[in-house]
Amino acid sequence: MERILVIGANGQIGCELVEALAEKHGAENVIAADIGARSSAGASCYETLDVLDSKRLMQVIEEYGISQVYQLAALLSVTGEQAPLRAWTLNMNGLLNILEIARERTAAGKPLRVFWPSSIAAFGPNTPAVDTPQLAVMDPTTIYGISKQAGERLCEYYFSKYGVDVRSIRYPGIISYKSPPGGGTTDYAIAIFYAACRGEHYPCYLGPETTLPMIYMPDAIRATIELMEAPSEQVCIRSSYNVAGMSFNPSQLAGMIRARQPDFRIDYRPDHRQLIADSWPQSLDDSHARDDWGWKPVIGLENLVDDMLLHIAIASRKQVHAA
Ligand code: SER
Repeated sequence: MERILVIGANGQIGCELVEALAEKHGAENVIAADIGARSSAGASCYETLDVLDSKRLMQVIEEYGISQVYQLAALLSVTGEQAPLRAWTLNMNGLLNILEIARERTAAGKPLRVFWPSSIAAFGPNTPAVDTPQLAVMDPTTIYGISKQAGERLCEYYFSKYGVDVRSIRYPGIISYKSPPGGGTTDYAIAIFYAACRGEHYPCYLGPETTLPMIYMPDAIRATIELMEAPSEQVCIRSSYNVAGMSFNPSQLAGMIRARQPDFRIDYRPDHRQLIADSWPQSLDDSHARDDWGWKPVIGLENLVDDMLLHIAIASRKQVHAA
């Protein structure tokens, strides 16, 4: 039986991951943790925890007999640029604290399996942008991307030097409707749906042709859990796996929304986020994830657009009724 700790459980990925893990392992075996006083997603076991407080982190891991940790607490690409030192400290020391505890436990024969998210932001302007290979030039330009690149090196180091069972995915932009994203460059692909459902015009902060790799949340959650459940010998890459869902640009996405809502209007006002997006891949070669542990995305862009519009419309109808 696994006992699982999800740190950053109130975030965009965290709240859906807790739900999926609770369904699989039983709610009593999934401990949600975040810096806030309470769970924003109604997790049944919740701990207030700052991942930078390694003593308390160790306490929680011991107290609950944790066997797997998902360390998701981080500042993303846009918020990271507003507070680079804070982003570096949180993103790096949060990971290091977990890896150190996992190292000690592995040495003591009580291994801790660790999941840590990397990102397409670990790549940079000199990375081949189309079908970006698993192994490529990585010259990230944001503090977030730099922390992801360094984090990948740490993961591989702790695995090869200390045998820590750490696993990671380079997430594309993740699209979801249950919990808002927090300060990423790819967030336009969520905000656009809210504007469309409110009948509002959407001023897009990226240009129409800015193609980026994206993935729908259910596929992202499935990839994460499948990687964590894969037999250790199948996890050949211990830095981080490229995982692809789909690729599109704002103009294509707007066109698909307009096909369903003919009144939808968008215009383009690229800002500082354009530079970040331009430095990232347009599409990813995820053949290593496919070959090593059987990854395969199932949700395409048409289904994503239908599903997002449907669920955001349902949520706004509920809000109107509740008001
Ligand atoms: N979605 C993230 C961002 O835009 C990328 O990992 O910052």
